[in-house]
Amino acid sequence: MKAETLATPDDAHAWGMQLAPALAAGDVIALCGTLGAGKTQITRGIVAGMHSEADVTSPTFTLVHEYRDGRLPVFHFDFYRMDSAAEVLGIGWDEFLSEPGVIVVEWADLFPELLPPNTRWFHIEALPDGSRRVTEGPLAK
Ligand SMILES: Nc1ncnc2c1ncn2[C@@H]1O[C@H](COP(=O)(O)OP(=O)(O)OP(=O)(O)O)[C@@H](O)[C@H]1O
Ligand SMILES: [Mg+2]
Repeated sequence: MKAETLATPDDAHAWGMQLAPALAAGDVIALCGTLGAGKTQITRGIVAGMHSEADVTSPTFTLVHEYRDGRLPVFHFDFYRMDSAAEVLGIGWDEFLSEPGVIVVEWADLFPELLPPNTRWFHIEALPDGSRRVTEGPLAK
């Protein structure tokens, strides 16, 4: 599996941005990695790469953030805030999956059963020198 090293937060932003042009309606991006790994920072890049002007913050009380002013809508979830898969279903997960937009999920590995087969899984790891390593590949079972 190809791994990429992101030396700085700006690199993480740029890496998210370069994902955006190839994204199509119905795509699902799963971002996995420990607290502070850079999942939200990468999401900022994805949203900016869609040419949205939105300020991206982690969804808390609203549970999902919708960025609709770009090339495609981006629906931003953070499963860390959710108590169960049932709670995610309760906020309309299936409806979001059928929307013509892109779904980005932080902590997607908490409820992997919710993620559709076409999901692209990315694993982000903080290295001792402060850089991050991103690897794309299936979720380890
Ligand atoms: N190389 C790097 N890549 C990404 N972020 C970095 C890097 N070095 C330092 N950071 C910092 O780490 C923090 C990453 O925060 P971010 O909110 O993106 O993480 P997260 O994975 O979303 O965390 P959480 O699990 O709490 O949602 C930011 O403050 C960012 O500036
Ligand atoms: Mg986050």
